Amino acid sequence: MDDLMLKIISLCKRRGFVFPSSEIYGGFSSCYDFGPLGVELKRNIKNLWWDEMTKKHKALVGLDASILMSPKVWQASGHLSAGFADELVECKKCHKRFKLDEIKTKKCPECNGVLTKPKKFNLMMKTFVGSVEDEAAKTYLRPETCQGIYVNFLNVLDTMRMKIPFGIAQIGKAFRNEITPGNYIFRVREFEQMEMQWFCSPKASKTPDDWFNYWKKERLKWYLNLGIKKENLRAIEIPKKERAHYAKRQVDIEYKFPFGWKEIEGVHNRGDWDLSNHSKHSKQDLSFENYIPHIIETSVGVERISLAFLCEAYQEIAGGRTKTTKAIKEKEVLLKLHKKLAPIKAAVLPLVKNKPELTKKAQEVYQLLKTNFTCQYDENGSIGKRYRRQDEIGTCFCLTIDFDTLKQNDVTIRDRDTMKQERVKIKDLVKVLTEKLDV
Ligand code: GAP
Repeated sequence: MDDLMLKIISLCKRRGFVFPSSEIYGGFSSCYDFGPLGVELKRNIKNLWWDEMTKKHKALVGLDASILMSPKVWQASGHLSAGFADELVECKKCHKRFKLDEIKTKKCPECNGVLTKPKKFNLMMKTFVGSVEDEAAKTYLRPETCQGIYVNFLNVLDTMRMKIPFGIAQIGKAFRNEITPGNYIFRVREFEQMEMQWFCSPKASKTPDDWFNYWKKERLKWYLNLGIKKENLRAIEIPKKERAHYAKRQVDIEYKFPFGWKEIEGVHNRGDWDLSNHSKHSKQDLSFENYIPHIIETSVGVERISLAFLCEAYQEIAGGRTKTTKAIKEKEVLLKLHKKLAPIKAAVLPLVKNKPELTKKAQEVYQLLKTNFTCQYDENGSIGKRYRRQDEIGTCFCLTIDFDTLKQNDVTIRDRDTMKQERVKIKDLVKVLTEKLDV
């Protein structure tokens, strides 16, 4: 694996972002647990997405559908159809899958990579509902969250008195029995999706394709606003033969990972595929004013973009930034996450550990801040070492409590990115940090 990826994986493990699942039992295939810092990062990502969707945009409401659904849903959606149960081979390099009966070579026709052995393959994770494990009790863990939105289309339309165009956003777990998971948390078997379905009219002057272009732009802007560099982001129009079975048009938003350009989000024009099929299978009329609404979808995985944000933020500064310490000859790690994404907003550091008057004051400051921001208290090691520990996890501000604090009731605030320091009165800390963090 790429050297940079190994460093990021090591940092994530060492500092409590990501742990292998069931680690004391030797781990569990491509499942990961998010530690105390990882869960904050994920929560920040989800909150930012949720606010973007439901607060910024008009006519966009939320939903939280159950993971287990009637197996009839998966019949209607096409997930249980022959295409999903065929014998497939998958390229170990580009992860494209090919039907065994359609492939003529032993190598991947796209990139010449090595192919896996053929498998009777369905991505769906089976389970049983009720006390008897028979065919009648069989259902599936959802492989995408959006179906929960489609089957609630009428409920939302009616209860919220929505008018087309409108959208429904949802965040939730999805499960896929990937045959070749990999690249750490990039491709896993259990993940969270953030999906938005925009219902629009094929007859309106603003066409589904116009809405497609609108959402594509909005989603690209979201990443740029959260610190992804323009040169590391691109939108690829997917040709017809490579599109998902439901897509009339598909753009993959890709990020330049250390292991190459890879999809992080899909923008799909699903046409009337979903509501037509659910109408047919459920025998419910899912039309609006005598037409079946078309759907523009934005769909992204939280773990996958957590990795993109971590890759983007990871920096090593040769020769060190903290010129006052012995670290000068070392490499310093800086996790330059956007301040809204950073798991820890402020660290409270008494200048020295063995002065009870300093540690007592520092604890007071920590208690004052911790109900407003995610904070850490750290008194171990030299102040330089503690700054570096905080830089490594992307903490936005370090607050040092020194002897002047006891006289003047102020602290030093050090900015992670500029390393500039300023004195701020303790009574003003919440206000000043709120402004600086824009929270
Ligand atoms: N509802 C449409 C849909 O699910 P998709 O392209 O299959 O579309 C959308 O998935 C997004 O979900 C992907 O761009 C990716 O961010 C995330 N995703 C899909 N499979 C994943 C996996 N095995 N591990 C992590 N994230 C995954």
